[in-house]
Amino acid sequence: MEEVRLDLRADANRAILWRDGDLYLLDQRQLPHEERYVRCRDARATADAIRAMVVRGAPAIGITAAYGVALAGRLRHAAHGAGWKAAIAEDFATLAASRPTAVNLFWALDRMRGRVVALPDGADPGAALLAEAQAIHAEDVIANRVLGDLGAALIAGPTDVVTHCNTGGLATGGHGTALGVIRSAWAQGLIGCVYADETRPWLQGSRLTAWELARDGIPVSLMADGAAAARMARGGVGWAIVGADRIAANGDTANKIGTYGLAVAARYHGVRFMVAAPTSTIDRTVATGAQIPIEERDPAEVLSCGGRRVGAPGVDAWNPVFDVTPAALIDAIVTERGVVLQPTAERIAALFDA
Ligand code: MRU
Repeated sequence: MEEVRLDLRADANRAILWRDGDLYLLDQRQLPHEERYVRCRDARATADAIRAMVVRGAPAIGITAAYGVALAGRLRHAAHGAGWKAAIAEDFATLAASRPTAVNLFWALDRMRGRVVALPDGADPGAALLAEAQAIHAEDVIANRVLGDLGAALIAGPTDVVTHCNTGGLATGGHGTALGVIRSAWAQGLIGCVYADETRPWLQGSRLTAWELARDGIPVSLMADGAAAARMARGGVGWAIVGADRIAANGDTANKIGTYGLAVAARYHGVRFMVAAPTSTIDRTVATGAQIPIEERDPAEVLSCGGRRVGAPGVDAWNPVFDVTPAALIDAIVTERGVVLQPTAERIAALFDA
């Protein structure tokens, strides 16, 4: 991957771009200070960008990996001709190893694999694989718009809301999941102020969610993660609204570390708790949250802040980057296929039967 300057204003809805045969990712590590893009020309660079958090957020990771397969298809066909299908297996493995928790990555790779299988051996697969990646991207934006409206319909406003991490256009194909609900609700006059957890250690709340909301003119107030319960205790917060990296068949939900504590605090204070996610985030192969793999990253991410060590010399740190919120703490899971209230395995299965 390579840093480039593109002649366009960085835009939450243009975090993932395809230009002149290459993939460009808005470098989210640099926001809100710098708006730079990273160019990826093969699957290896794409996987590196996902692992390094250039792009992050479950749906955005899946979309990016799909474009990575499109890059790989073109290169493998150029190098191996009719043998490209065997050669591209390595690229699928490289992309799948980039991050473990967000199931959208594996969902998108499965869909791209299905396209690979259906294509002829001899012809250049570049155009067909690009079209599939672009379809995944476009469908995610539509899903967000639909679930955004469905989630907004649950909110009796105006009310303040709490959110965690970044679930906006940066984390998706565009519009956002939890932030999509908040955007749709704001447009309907249902939101007073969005209280955004800063979301240590990567600060997705302060750096990304606040950046997106401020650009939209939606009132946002940042708070330390530990302040959320105190904010709820003061009153006036109707909902906590979060996204998801993987939802188990019974509704248990893996999301950014701190989500579980937020859900416990919400239940204690009578604040309703909403998970907003496309159905590509639901993993029906895992029965409960206990089976969801939780990524642990470098302790240095916790031991430092803004590039400076903040942990006392000689101490270590534990850095799980997701946790699992039990379904029993979730009032609503909102998807593009419909809303599941008080989620259970049966109610979630019914989403897919409809
Ligand atoms: O580590 P990240 O930044 O990829 O974690 C992102 C989250 O936890 C989001 O809440 C989740 O992916 C939903 S994004 C629509």
